[in-house]
Amino acid sequence: MSYKLPLSFPVFEGNEQKYSSKAIQSGHLATRGEFIEKFESALSRRLGSHEAVALNSGTSALHLALVLLGVESGDEVICQSFTFCASANPIVYLGATPIFVDSEKDTWNMSPELLEDAILDRLNEGKKPKAIIAVHLFGMPAKMKEIMDISKRYGVPVIEDAAEAIGSKIGGRACGTFGTIGIFSFNGNKIMTSGGGGALISNDTRLLQKARYLSTQAREDLPYYQHLEIGYNYRMNNMAAAIGLAQLELLDHFIERRRDVNMRYRDLLSTMSGISFLNERSEAFSNYWLTTICIDPEIADTTNDKLRVRLLKEDIETRFLWKPLHLQPVFQKMPFYGGNVARDLFNSGLCLPSSVNLSLDNQREIVDLMRTTLTKQLY
Ligand SMILES: Cc1ncc(COP(=O)(O)O)c(C=O)c1O
Repeated sequence: MSYKLPLSFPVFEGNEQKYSSKAIQSGHLATRGEFIEKFESALSRRLGSHEAVALNSGTSALHLALVLLGVESGDEVICQSFTFCASANPIVYLGATPIFVDSEKDTWNMSPELLEDAILDRLNEGKKPKAIIAVHLFGMPAKMKEIMDISKRYGVPVIEDAAEAIGSKIGGRACGTFGTIGIFSFNGNKIMTSGGGGALISNDTRLLQKARYLSTQAREDLPYYQHLEIGYNYRMNNMAAAIGLAQLELLDHFIERRRDVNMRYRDLLSTMSGISFLNERSEAFSNYWLTTICIDPEIADTTNDKLRVRLLKEDIETRFLWKPLHLQPVFQKMPFYGGNVARDLFNSGLCLPSSVNLSLDNQREIVDLMRTTLTKQLY
């Protein structure tokens, strides 16, 4: 389904055509070809300290990350509840159990206090969690310093799910580079895309080598096919890498535009009471992949669903915030630590159209329509 104003639509304003034509001319469209390495090097340079392995999705990157950390059937992995299902599904692929932790109000990400409670309780039950998956949701950095302190205190490694947060930073340091392993997604709706794609990053050479090996079917370096381990077909292809490289060259520009979109919403919505935004704390820098708001129905005289339906009538896409995973039927039997933060965000929040090419006039139209739901005559 296509909308007049979609939530997040890609733009191709740089070298995408040029690089993809070059990939076609080279004949290498699969998992060999110059753009895969070029994309990885450019991504590593951008991150500063870490090396990247380009993969075919953020989900496969998370799956590989868990495999690399030795997660097996019967293990437990702590995961932020307020996130997309792909953060937790790979735990289940491995026969392990997700242990969900609630968010905190100021970042909407994993609460460090509840994380520690969860670890202590699992230890009490005689089970040491094998890993922690912390997410930088909607591009907003999680409290990585606090989370890493807890990780070190209890010896549980962190996988940073930065699928939505490429370019976001804490104290100038890139999100994704705090944990043992970080992952990104370059899916079509993200701030930069390779069509479909992802990356796994680390500064542990051994883990990176193993990621390359496992992502290409665990092939031994022999003149015939020999396998000592079960591998995966998870490598990024050269065509995706060509597009990804061109998009990466534009990342700063995309972030600037998404941040402009966010600032303009703040300005345009400042006269509507009962609407609040997710704000950066002092050391955090968000890529503002999506602009998200919360609506207090008592004050605003409207709800997230009324706004969604009104905008949909004009072919404008909005979406509820992620439904917390501990409330998903498929995960309902999994342990959960926390209260109602993620639940309340889901009940009151909305993602607004945030594409790079959204104009001021588009945003004025959106906000004017939002205003019409404040009076009862339309309902
Ligand atoms: C938080 C989060 N984690 C993981 C993923 C998975 O990424 P992909 O769609 O590339 O598999 C996504 C996005 O889709 C996401 O938003």
